[in-house]
Amino acid sequence: MPAMSDLSDLDTMTPAEAAVELERLSLEIAEHNRRYHEDDAPTVTDAEFDALRRRNEAIEARFPDLVRADTPSRKVGSAPSAKFAKIRHAVPMLSLDNAFADEDVADFARRVRRFLGLSEDAKLAITAEPKIDGLSLSLRYEKGRLVSAATRGDGQVGEDVTANARTLDDIPGELTGFSPEIFEVRGEVYMTHADFAALNARLLAEAGEGAEGGGEGARKARQFANPRNAAAGSLRQKDANVTKSRPLRFFAYAWGQTSELPGETQSEVVAALQAMGFQTNTVPQNGRTEPLMRRLETVDGLIEHYRRIEAERASLGYDIDGVVYKVDDLEQQRELGFVSRAPRWAIAHKFSAEQATTVVEEIVINVGRTGKLAPLAKLRPVTVGGVVVSNVTLHNEDYVAGRDADGQPIRGGRDIRIGDTVVIQRAGDVIPQVVDVVIEKRPDGAEPFLYPDHCPICGSKAEREINPRTGRLDSVRRCTAAMTCPAQAKEGLKHFVSRNAFDIEGLGETFVEELFDAGLARQPADLFRMEFDRLRDVIEARRRA
Ligand code: IVH
Repeated sequence: MPAMSDLSDLDTMTPAEAAVELERLSLEIAEHNRRYHEDDAPTVTDAEFDALRRRNEAIEARFPDLVRADTPSRKVGSAPSAKFAKIRHAVPMLSLDNAFADEDVADFARRVRRFLGLSEDAKLAITAEPKIDGLSLSLRYEKGRLVSAATRGDGQVGEDVTANARTLDDIPGELTGFSPEIFEVRGEVYMTHADFAALNARLLAEAGEGAEGGGEGARKARQFANPRNAAAGSLRQKDANVTKSRPLRFFAYAWGQTSELPGETQSEVVAALQAMGFQTNTVPQNGRTEPLMRRLETVDGLIEHYRRIEAERASLGYDIDGVVYKVDDLEQQRELGFVSRAPRWAIAHKFSAEQATTVVEEIVINVGRTGKLAPLAKLRPVTVGGVVVSNVTLHNEDYVAGRDADGQPIRGGRDIRIGDTVVIQRAGDVIPQVVDVVIEKRPDGAEPFLYPDHCPICGSKAEREINPRTGRLDSVRRCTAAMTCPAQAKEGLKHFVSRNAFDIEGLGETFVEELFDAGLARQPADLFRMEFDRLRDVIEARRRA
């Protein structure tokens, strides 16, 4: 079978093969949809999922007669879970088409112009705002009072999460200064990075209390992989008290059924939403005075704003996965209407799924089993490919300085400093890497990182050896203290019990560290003979922690 995003076999595909492939894709996409929407636990990245959909669409475009009744290209989300009562949306909750390249944005503007019969130079206002990576929610207000809240579900029927939604501070029970017969507000429920980290720490602690002997697999199971899953899992709870204990937030950016609209443009209505008591992306965030939503009149302007939002991405404190462009004039929106699962008047310009920009907050040096000094960048957390990345290895001294083992420049010779904005990449299961440094964003006064020439743990000299193969200085600097260096001794001990060596069951890395720190095991031989009382103390301390 070709790789998921590979379309190279399309030219030679026979109709019979296409039919089989469309069936396979329909089932596979439905299953991934179920895992994402129902279980809040996806098993592929968003990029992999998009690639499956693109492959399905490409085959359908080539074999239009073979489009299945259950085609994923006409479906949004996933059927609502049986866990919840159902709510039929008065106005369907649709999805957005995606743009990946700048050219796709230009195409979007051309299509809109053509559809509206506008000439090249006629004015066309389009808004650009962040695409928040959470889950969408529709709030129904009658005479200004919140009466129901529903998830998107399959776009037609969603899950009734009214009691849960009422627990969010960002969701007013009553609208301020506006009480029409019917007004449905739509937006995104999300979680900030800081709240996500705190929630996972709390879940870990709670699981630890219940778990005997600290089965680490069981502890992990209760944590969330990323803020989106955490937001979805927290909102979709049977017990609203659980939702109440979770730090969920809500951004309003759209609406459903309305008996009255407080404006004639997208930007006016969004401004009105803010006045009604909602958080919107037009409000200053964290002291920022610039609104994140802009109204623009050229494609270049849209792309420029996209780049600006992309550069700000790491400092927002919550996940966004692109920028949404919407035709501003609501009359034009009505004229443009919808095609299958998405409006013609909007498009989502997605960020590259595998790359993100963030800030190096600290560079720490770990010492390994063989004394190797290993530099690690502590990052402002950012979600890349569905996983929160907060650490990235910087390999060695040369890598930090911007050169390879042969002294040749890497990243155009740009070194990595504390405070630097860096582009990190994580593709599939590959370990995240720094692919570039954004020099323009380097803070004034940032100094080159001073690589230590002494072991940060034991203070002994750390040296670069001559590589016998090349006759040159090795990239790696090592602590010269061998087993008298506590870091090397501890790492050596961890290695000894590990699967690759003695594979001692029940003796995980953390436990070994605790034994080492308590002075009970300093070298492998100590593991076989321990004072019972002291061992019990360590185990009890571990239970309490
Ligand atoms: S507008 C008719 N604006 O992205 C479509 N959606 O991939 C109205 N989303 O279902 C959606 N941020 O859950 C809109 N600023 C934003 C958004 C946004 C996130 C989500 C929303 C939507 C999905 C489409």
